[in-house]
Amino acid sequence: MAKIDLNSSIKRIAVLTSGGDSPGMNPAIRSVVRASIYFGRRVFGIKHGYYGLIEDEVEEMKSNDVSDIINRGGTILKTSRCKRFFDKEGRAKAYKTLKKHHIDALVVIGGNGSFRGAELLGKEFDIPIIGIPGTIDNDLSGTDYTIGYDTALNNVVNAIDKIRDTASSHDRLFFVEVMGRDAGFIALRSGIASGAEAVLVPEIHTEYGSLKKYLKEEYQNKKSSSIVLVAEGDDSGGAMMISNAIKHDFPEFNIRVTILGHIQRGGAPSDFDRVMASEMGIAAVKGLLSGEKNVMVGVKNRKTVYVPLCKAEKHTKKLKPSLLETLSILNV
Ligand code: F6P
Repeated sequence: MAKIDLNSSIKRIAVLTSGGDSPGMNPAIRSVVRASIYFGRRVFGIKHGYYGLIEDEVEEMKSNDVSDIINRGGTILKTSRCKRFFDKEGRAKAYKTLKKHHIDALVVIGGNGSFRGAELLGKEFDIPIIGIPGTIDNDLSGTDYTIGYDTALNNVVNAIDKIRDTASSHDRLFFVEVMGRDAGFIALRSGIASGAEAVLVPEIHTEYGSLKKYLKEEYQNKKSSSIVLVAEGDDSGGAMMISNAIKHDFPEFNIRVTILGHIQRGGAPSDFDRVMASEMGIAAVKGLLSGEKNVMVGVKNRKTVYVPLCKAEKHTKKLKPSLLETLSILNV
């Protein structure tokens, strides 16, 4: 990163959250607001993500507007998945709002979809934009972690610990479905952390025959209860479908299904997410003041990095082979 230029022409910075909320977005907003003020800038919050940018929901923020939010899940700025922003017309309206408030740069806290929109806005109107990765899915290339992933993992693991109590008391086989859209990062890591007997992820084709064989050999012969973790995007069709198929083939199994749903995304952010979000917020403001634009702040091998927005995308990030190996060794 180049040196911070306190005389930079960026005097007014706006911040918004976009896409699915994730725990840690509030600490990130707090950090962007306070870092901007620290560096002598004025800072503006945009409500409801890109929708608020189009509809002019803009308010100046002061340091005390972000007091008492570091511990809160969700986003005080609110969020949306705004289809209008993907039309040129919507983005032109959004740019008009930025001009109206004399905003010189924008910080977008969100995931893949939000960054695709940011990229277009940045290119079309030559406005400096910095992304902060905020999604529980952890599916963005260019960063080892996204804000909210760690908290979601803890939510999943806490829930599975509880499910295991009833699974073992009743000798049941549980299929637990977790979020992650079309990526298996949440499923794989929380599967290891919760000692799941099998984990089905979208990145690896689920061979129904081998799952059946595994369950027959493991569950029936060696274990009295089991947890099978199913990522929502897995090609087996999700926990409900796969459990129905297994029920059909093994009517003797005592099967239950739990779909964890949005509880995964809620609650107080973890220490990890709070600290990472705080660091990324500062890095975003520093980046803008040192000439970075159209990049995402990421963390790679524990170091803060700036990655071109076009490289901060899903589908190119791979599951860690070492985690896959860990799972299979521990499931003998
Ligand atoms: O991208 C975050 C995420 O929670 C995904 O894991 C999930 O597939 C999706 O959002 C759910 O979206 P919504 O809250 O709009 O139903």
